[in-house]
Amino acid sequence: MRDEILAVDGGNSVLPASIEYKWPKLRADWRDCVLGQLDSGKLSIYDRSGVVADFEDSWSKLLDIEFSLVTSSGTAALHSAFYGIGLGPGDEVLCPTYTFFATAVPLLQLGALPVLVDCKPDGSFDAELAADLVTERTKAIVVTHMWGLPCEMTAILALADRYGLDVVEDCSHAHGARYRGRPVGAFGSAGAWSLQTQKIIAAGEGGVLATGRRDVYDRAQLLGHFNKRAVREMDTEGPLYRYATTGLGLKYRAHPLGVAFAAGQIAELPQWIDAKQDYANRIAEYFQRIDGVRALTMSTAERTSAHYALLFEVDPEVVEGGRDWLVRACNAEGIGDVDVPKATSPLHTLEVFQDPVSPVVKYDKECIRSSYPVADRLAARTFKISVPCAPRGHEDEDDRYLEAVRLVTEKIADHLSRQDGRSLRHSPL
Ligand SMILES: Cc1ncc(COP(=O)(O)O)c(C=O)c1O
Repeated sequence: MRDEILAVDGGNSVLPASIEYKWPKLRADWRDCVLGQLDSGKLSIYDRSGVVADFEDSWSKLLDIEFSLVTSSGTAALHSAFYGIGLGPGDEVLCPTYTFFATAVPLLQLGALPVLVDCKPDGSFDAELAADLVTERTKAIVVTHMWGLPCEMTAILALADRYGLDVVEDCSHAHGARYRGRPVGAFGSAGAWSLQTQKIIAAGEGGVLATGRRDVYDRAQLLGHFNKRAVREMDTEGPLYRYATTGLGLKYRAHPLGVAFAAGQIAELPQWIDAKQDYANRIAEYFQRIDGVRALTMSTAERTSAHYALLFEVDPEVVEGGRDWLVRACNAEGIGDVDVPKATSPLHTLEVFQDPVSPVVKYDKECIRSSYPVADRLAARTFKISVPCAPRGHEDEDDRYLEAVRLVTEKIADHLSRQDGRSLRHSPL
């Protein structure tokens, strides 16, 4: 057992050079897909054809769902889902407060109001708390499978059934996650994924919506895919078909180069999710050698996490300086990926939910209708770290990343086990 001075206290860092988890990998075959698309000259795809159709077909197959629609971002996919289910002014939507704000902000574009709900201790949507916030205006529930861990969909669907609500799943962290063996995103009226550069399926920028409902798909096409696609794809008998040529003023088409980069990744997703289970187990084991640190988002028998990231809670009564100290200590030893998810501050702490505004209505109700102690606790005590997936050709790189995590956590755990001050009640390893 070493007892070196920690880098955060002025010692040498355990890693010779700082290491960051690299994603997406720029694999040769994915580059070739992009170059092939470029060479095709098709830098704008107006209808459902080419690489866009290939991506959508693969996505629908993966989800075992009828319709997929590639969009310019996850935010656009969520907006399309909300418009798709018919939300409008005055409607209320039960939303997690513990999520990234783009889960809820698109509702403002429709004049619908997000009503914020506290989370469970693992960060997932709490259907019981949500039930207390249902009013006669409530029309839908949106949930986020945070950090890749599926929400308890059985309870959420039961609540939705009880009040006749639509369910939208924000799966932006959860490509390939499964609940009771079924892929997330296919449980409710629509699923939405971001394909932004850090995401498990990465286009650089992009998104995708999936739905089993023809009406949702058609409305989503109308919102952002006017002219050729909407004209060719929408149900000609549907009530909104006459607007297909012009659409409704938005264009949410994705860039074909990004789609080409991402399309080839889909086939490998199931293997990546398997690999992530193993990496997540090892990362959890390494960090949990530090007394007072606990992994919150591990998979369970029913909930297979996509492990977009792994979330840990640090008990400040055990680790002096708590989460912030531990993050600084890991960063100083050379792991830049250990990080406080600042962009995912609980929504009730953000101005736009404290004093909601919409481009289309003046709100007469509040988003904040309860207190949020569980989300506040997560915001104060947790950090996250990326979980690798070892795509073919990059296994060694990801193993080196794991080894770096092992070395850093071992040094910190060893050090704390010898410090009375920092670790307030550390048990020997
Ligand atoms: C949970 C969640 N929802 C929605 C989004 C929005 O996705 P995008 O950045 O592609 O618009 C993100 C991505 O950052 C996200 O993490």
